[in-house]
Amino acid sequence: MLRTHTCGELRINHVNQAVTLTGWVQRVRNKGSILWIDLRDRYGITQLIFDESSTDASLMDKARSVGREFVLQAKGIVVERLSKNDKMPTGDVEIKVTELILLNAAKTPPFTIEDETDGGDELRMKYRYLDLRRTPVRESLLLRHKMAQQTRIYLDSLNFVEVETPVLIKSTPEGARDFVVPSRVHHGEFYALPQSPQTFKQLLMVSGFDRYYQIVKCFRDEDLRADRQPEFTQIDCEMAFITQEDILSTFEGLIRHLFKAVKGIELPAVARMSYDDAMKYYGSDKPDTRFEMTFTEIKHLTTGKNFVVFDSAELVVGICAKGCAEYTRKQLDELTEYVKRPQVGAKGLVYVQYKADGTFKSSVDKFYSTDDLKKWAEAFNAQPGDLMLIMAGETNTTRKQLNELRLLMGEKLGLRDKNKFSALWVLDFPLLEWNEETNRYHAMHHPFTSPKPEDIPLLETDPGKVRANAYDMVLNGSEIGGGSIRIHDRATQQMMFTHLGFTEEEAKKQFGFLMEAFEYGAPPHGGIAFGFDRLCALFGGSESIRDFIAFPKNNSGRDVMIDSPSTISDEQLKELGIQVRS
Ligand code: AMO
Repeated sequence: MLRTHTCGELRINHVNQAVTLTGWVQRVRNKGSILWIDLRDRYGITQLIFDESSTDASLMDKARSVGREFVLQAKGIVVERLSKNDKMPTGDVEIKVTELILLNAAKTPPFTIEDETDGGDELRMKYRYLDLRRTPVRESLLLRHKMAQQTRIYLDSLNFVEVETPVLIKSTPEGARDFVVPSRVHHGEFYALPQSPQTFKQLLMVSGFDRYYQIVKCFRDEDLRADRQPEFTQIDCEMAFITQEDILSTFEGLIRHLFKAVKGIELPAVARMSYDDAMKYYGSDKPDTRFEMTFTEIKHLTTGKNFVVFDSAELVVGICAKGCAEYTRKQLDELTEYVKRPQVGAKGLVYVQYKADGTFKSSVDKFYSTDDLKKWAEAFNAQPGDLMLIMAGETNTTRKQLNELRLLMGEKLGLRDKNKFSALWVLDFPLLEWNEETNRYHAMHHPFTSPKPEDIPLLETDPGKVRANAYDMVLNGSEIGGGSIRIHDRATQQMMFTHLGFTEEEAKKQFGFLMEAFEYGAPPHGGIAFGFDRLCALFGGSESIRDFIAFPKNNSGRDVMIDSPSTISDEQLKELGIQVRS
């Protein structure tokens, strides 16, 4: 080793020891006769001191010649600092350097490598290897490492076997577009990169592996958001001979283990809610349950008073914002503007201020009497001092719009504390979802998900009403995992494909291997996959998963550091049997 200690470990009890440190120059302070260098590595920062009165001139010159991010080896004696720095773990000591070896010089970095940097997003992405030297970014990756280790410890203790599944496969239908890889040997044919290892993990159950997991890269060609990357990582799991209850308890156990081991938090039992209730009370299948502010439906209290907006609406629904009755006209207008933005798309917002003195002031005073508003307040469980915010329209759309408003109000009222954690199972998702573009039903989770047996007859009459044995885990309003109990017999799987609009021929071509496997003794099975990047981001208190990925893509799916995607040579194209550009 080129060092005896790291830059994070020397303390007062090391005084008088001869040590050798290696690292990068964080900062140089030159006071003429005395010069200090902060030397940084992954473990911390240690101060080096060069004092003209006791250091020879050539060493002083060498020290003066180093710049930011130079790579050094410094030999010297640990001494007690005259002015200690209690903000640094090594702040009691410094190294009186006797020998300095320049391991490598460095160009001036394009942004400062400090906790707070002056570098913009794109620049830091281009020089990601420099950004990774910064403590907050490094810590995010160390957190990720810990999470992966603890995941393995937990699953291994329960007999889960880690199996690697292939990356060059064919399409798995998770609902996004595939990334494809052309075959050189078979011109005109393509591999697809897995959107998830779904079919392979089911085949492993047929093989008898019984409990499988994998921390695995998945690839989805979909629009990027703060919580989505084209390649991301799942903790992918599958179990055989289990009920849904076994899956829920095993993976609730995983999350609670991670909270305990990584954050020292005892997470309470994970609450459960049906999909229908999540939509009815929160307008979302991933409700943020860190705060209440649930929906109250008041259509029955509003009709017949000549307010056309409410009279003509399928649903009249609102939330009660505690203590907000004194919102100014400007604040109320801002809320209305917010819901009218195209991203939310509402036509308007009705407010009722339940003043502290028990009187009401609303935007619909023309239509509703104090007695009417009192009834609304009762339904909302509102107290004097509260503000009721009400929206109306088509049921699903209005719920989604009110969800946006609820989240905004939660934010404004400081109810979405990133250090508070609330996990939830959302159960009984619909099996199918109508797709306006293709004009047919799609599997809401994926086509291998089993319908609830009692709902199977509805497949013929009212397919949208069929519930699935499917569940999501939601943490602080973010979907961190999803899974289902699978179909494990050929006939049901074939029926499912038929309902999804596949001809028998198409189903056989795409998934014949799975249906055939079901004929060789497939055990009942089910599983789940967690979005590992999302989980890490939530544990790290961040909205964006990018910081928790070593080398992420930017918002338009580019890796600006290596400049990818990029063109390939005509020769490569030809070899792959792809038409060469003219
Ligand atoms: P699903 O499609 O719900 O299920 O994915 C599981 C979890 O993966 C995360 N996730 C993502 N994270 C980052 N970027 C993305 N583009 C992205 N897409 C999804 C989410 C999500 O909850 N095979 C099934 C699992 C199963 O049935 O067992 C599957 O992939 O946190």
